[in-house]
Amino acid sequence: MEENPSINVEAVVVVDFGSQYTRLIARRVRECHVYCEIVSHDAEWEQVAHLNPRGVILSGGPASVYEPDAPMAPSWIYEKHLPILGICYGLQVLAHQLGGKVVPGKRREYGNAILYQNDETSLLFSDLPLSMEVWMSHGDQVEELPQGFRSMAHTDNSPIAVLGNDKGVLGLQFHPEVVHTPEGKRMIENFLYHICECRGNWTPSNFTEESIVRIREQVGEGMVICGLSGGVDSAVTAALIHRAVGEQLTCIFVDNGLLRKDESRQVIETFERNLKINLIHVDAKKDFLAGLQKVIDPEEKRRFIGKEFIRVFEEQAAQLGKVDFLAQGTLYPDVIESQSTDSKSSAKIKTHHNVGGLPENMTLSLVEPLRYLFKDEVREVGLALGLPMEMVYRQPFPGPGLAIRIIGEVTWEKLQVLRSCDTIVMDEIQQVDLYNQLWQSFAVLTDTRTVGVMGDFRTYGYMVAIRAVTSEDAMTADWARIPYDVLAQISSRIVNEIPEVNRVVYDITSKPPGTIEWE
Ligand code: XMP
Repeated sequence: MEENPSINVEAVVVVDFGSQYTRLIARRVRECHVYCEIVSHDAEWEQVAHLNPRGVILSGGPASVYEPDAPMAPSWIYEKHLPILGICYGLQVLAHQLGGKVVPGKRREYGNAILYQNDETSLLFSDLPLSMEVWMSHGDQVEELPQGFRSMAHTDNSPIAVLGNDKGVLGLQFHPEVVHTPEGKRMIENFLYHICECRGNWTPSNFTEESIVRIREQVGEGMVICGLSGGVDSAVTAALIHRAVGEQLTCIFVDNGLLRKDESRQVIETFERNLKINLIHVDAKKDFLAGLQKVIDPEEKRRFIGKEFIRVFEEQAAQLGKVDFLAQGTLYPDVIESQSTDSKSSAKIKTHHNVGGLPENMTLSLVEPLRYLFKDEVREVGLALGLPMEMVYRQPFPGPGLAIRIIGEVTWEKLQVLRSCDTIVMDEIQQVDLYNQLWQSFAVLTDTRTVGVMGDFRTYGYMVAIRAVTSEDAMTADWARIPYDVLAQISSRIVNEIPEVNRVVYDITSKPPGTIEWE
């Protein structure tokens, strides 16, 4: 790993006015290797002072500045004399609060527009063409500029599409964060590098070093436990904490028998043998299988699996003696979504509200070293920590595992059939280099049996469904247009290699209305 002991990463604050794109702004800033955090529009300076921000970005939002309860930017934004970039509503807030005039536009401007520069000297437009495509979505517009500001660019409908002064305070009427503004990311980069004078030192190795220092500070001499699922988030959390406090960490891996082929071996090999992390490996296959007998209802399956996991985890944790911390792989999108304020190390919580792991009377502090990272950053950190590619780039896998990919009762025989089908799907998808382009690709064992013919014999076997989807975040998904040849190969291998299966179908439902899993 690159040597980088500096823990003073430069940062920018993104002030949220409720735009659906705020998270995207943060993503773009991070892509420029500048650290940023999103705060609410009423955040106090004390909340962000520790970041020592180099600049502020004001997001868009649904309000109109002239409405009585419209959210405004807090006064510290102006008092600290930092560079500011207002985006859409953010621009209108700047104009309004600094003495300009914002009025309802004659008509809403929505969609593509061409932006023409008026001020070719602005650092915001460094190395950018004189006219560019931008994406607009606004009803209000700036009619009068605040004192000291000028219009730096216009579109046919907006005489003031970019405003700015000589002190690095700028506003954009359009959205630079969306892909429909092709030069948008370069404008954000210009703001960060040329106006905020950031150097772009936010890198995975830098994060790792800083994070190790923080974990040591938080944990001290305490003992930490961490549940491993085989997924990337818990794996990176464990590897990071182990790097920081070594033997003080114990991981618990519950093999519920519902995992994919070789998953259990891979977790044990990576963590126990290669990384030398204390690992308690619990073989709970029998308990899970016994409890799942005759359970058909998917919700009941989920409830049982969740409860059983808690029971096993709790039993193991209790045997460890005194434990002070529970490590969790919470990511930044979860933090933003739950609107939780930064609780850092001080969060004393009842653990059963979180992983539901431990007895109710046992309070543990949380260690969540990934709570400011996006998923792709987590993957980069994982690689920097030496985790294997197969683990870091693994497609998401549901907590209840293969149990929700078997329709009807879950039995060991069916699990083995599904594992074999799943392995064929994965092999073939990997062969044609599609694995990393798909959000998920897997097999489902339906409870339908159909008639078939093999050689001179009539067969009666299971129907297996193949599901492969593309998605950004699993909220919506589209069925993947996998080449017919690849589907043919998957189908042929499954019916030839797995005697219990005689029919394969491909699911061509998007989400919505379908879900990704079948349940
Ligand atoms: P659905 O089927 O609702 O799934 O479209 C969306 C995404 O969530 C995953 N999933 C789960 N992940 N625990 C998890 O950790 C669960 O219980 C669970 N259920 C679904 C699913 O694989 C997909 O990526």
